[in-house]
Amino acid sequence: MLIFNTNNNLISHLNSIKTAGSSIGFVPTMGALHEGHLSLLKAAMSQNSIVVISIFVNPTQFNNPEDLAKYPRTLERDIEKIQSVSEKIIIYAPTVADIYDGKTVSKHFDFDGLENQMEGKFRPGHFDGVGTIVKRLFEIVKPNYAYFGEKDYQQLQIIKKMVTKLKIPVQIVGCPIHREPNGLAMSSRNERLSANERKEAAIIFKILKQSQQLFKTKSATAVTAWVKKNIEVSQTFKLEYFQIADEATLLPCIRKNKSKKYRAFIAVFVNKIRLIDTISLN
Ligand code: PAJ
Repeated sequence: MLIFNTNNNLISHLNSIKTAGSSIGFVPTMGALHEGHLSLLKAAMSQNSIVVISIFVNPTQFNNPEDLAKYPRTLERDIEKIQSVSEKIIIYAPTVADIYDGKTVSKHFDFDGLENQMEGKFRPGHFDGVGTIVKRLFEIVKPNYAYFGEKDYQQLQIIKKMVTKLKIPVQIVGCPIHREPNGLAMSSRNERLSANERKEAAIIFKILKQSQQLFKTKSATAVTAWVKKNIEVSQTFKLEYFQIADEATLLPCIRKNKSKKYRAFIAVFVNKIRLIDTISLN
């Protein structure tokens, strides 16, 4: 199992093993790995001769210092999980200094408005941080394919937009959401929930599935009103947003258009822990 902490060493190693026919698959993560991350690794393994995973809790994408401080860091366990998928996977676990070279600041990106909806509205600067780190990681790893989860659907669309606009030669592959048996979308943040909160949080996916049914006959406004009324089942739950949006532009659905595809997006606080989820509506 190869683990690199510096971009120089990783780049030299990749240069030494690359051949004309090889293909690099890349899975960027912030660690605290779960089955969702591993499904991305498995997809990368099935399509590439070389697979790289990065583990880096990126400070520039956190708008909330407490969230950054409390983000779980579990490198030893992460390495074991990666090993269980394949010994051949190359790990890049850099320090902040190695990535940012002393300047821990984001570049500003124009993602044609995708960045102004939902997560962008409620987490100012978040997508500038994501764009900055993913662009930097792409420059280091130079992957042919990069794998992102639909759990962070807005992020996936933004990365696709970034590589198109900046002409970065990488194919972005979207992967389905992995869920716990009770339907809760797997997330590193789930580790911070109590056993009871984790059980109760199953309501998030239940509500999304119900909104999918309701949207067949009701307007986006009516479905949104229904969700607002039904999600806050206990004092521990606080809805941040529920939005039905055009899958491509992420603009809110005002009037249904049969030729468009829609998706519901939700962000909920369970006590202080912020969870997001999404479902396709047609
Ligand atoms: P992180 O939250 O660690 O997620 C890494 C990748 O795993 C993302 O593409 C995310 O969408 C995917 N993922 C997370 N939970 C998933 C699930 N339940 N099912 C399927 N895929 C899932 O997203 C980030 O890190 C960061 O923003 C990053 C892109 C690494 C930049 O710092």
